[in-house]
Amino acid sequence: MSELNTKLVIGNWKMHGCLARNAVLLNTLAHGTQQWSEALRIAVCVPFPYLAQTQELLHNSRIAWGVQDVSAHTEGAYTGEVSAAMAAEFGATFALVGHSERRAYHQENDPAVAAKTHRALEVGLTPVVCVGETRAERDAGRAEQTVSQQLQVVLDTLSVEQAMRLVIAYEPVWAIGTGRNAQAHEVRAMHAVLHRLLTAADDRLAHVPVLYGGSVKPDNARELFAEPGVEGGLIGGASLKAEDFLDICAAAD
Ligand code: 13P
Repeated sequence: MSELNTKLVIGNWKMHGCLARNAVLLNTLAHGTQQWSEALRIAVCVPFPYLAQTQELLHNSRIAWGVQDVSAHTEGAYTGEVSAAMAAEFGATFALVGHSERRAYHQENDPAVAAKTHRALEVGLTPVVCVGETRAERDAGRAEQTVSQQLQVVLDTLSVEQAMRLVIAYEPVWAIGTGRNAQAHEVRAMHAVLHRLLTAADDRLAHVPVLYGGSVKPDNARELFAEPGVEGGLIGGASLKAEDFLDICAAAD
């Protein structure tokens, strides 16, 4: 668990946005966070085509930016793919890897997520490794096993020094976009599992932040972020509304 009392809040825009709306959102966020302490870390993960716009509008702000995926390959004949190096060229700091929507709709398995984690690390991006169980897995009593395996496969491929640079996001699939966030006690329990797994690999992984994602809103963020072992949030829908995202960030401050 992070010893520093700092939180990290990352917005995941998913496949939303257009130049005009992004400009309003990004400018409002940049302005709205100007006076805040540096202790709270904030980022937005935007669709690839908007990286340049995001860089232009946020480079003088305290908000970092990133991407929602990277290719498992470094470079080459992979039509439609975007490399981690390309994202890094636009000043990205974070790369989500293994988001449940990538796993579900693009057949990404754990080894692919591990490869993407390596590609991100190689170019200095912070991989945000997303893990989470489906409703069926939870109902079958396999939530901890599923989530642990997703993380363990990635950890097994990394040195401790590499693993120290990770961020983990626990996002129960059944809580994503449903308006039904996981209960505080469920979040606490799973974050404890993840922190135990990290420190079992090496004590130095105690500081790796574990974020919660899944229907985080202004009215539940404070309670969720107050749970021990919750070092911040990965925010989908609510990150598209400046006021809501700022309120969620304020709840983490
Ligand atoms: P929602 O906040 O819309 O539930 O999405 C969560 C998520 O998938 C963030 O990556």
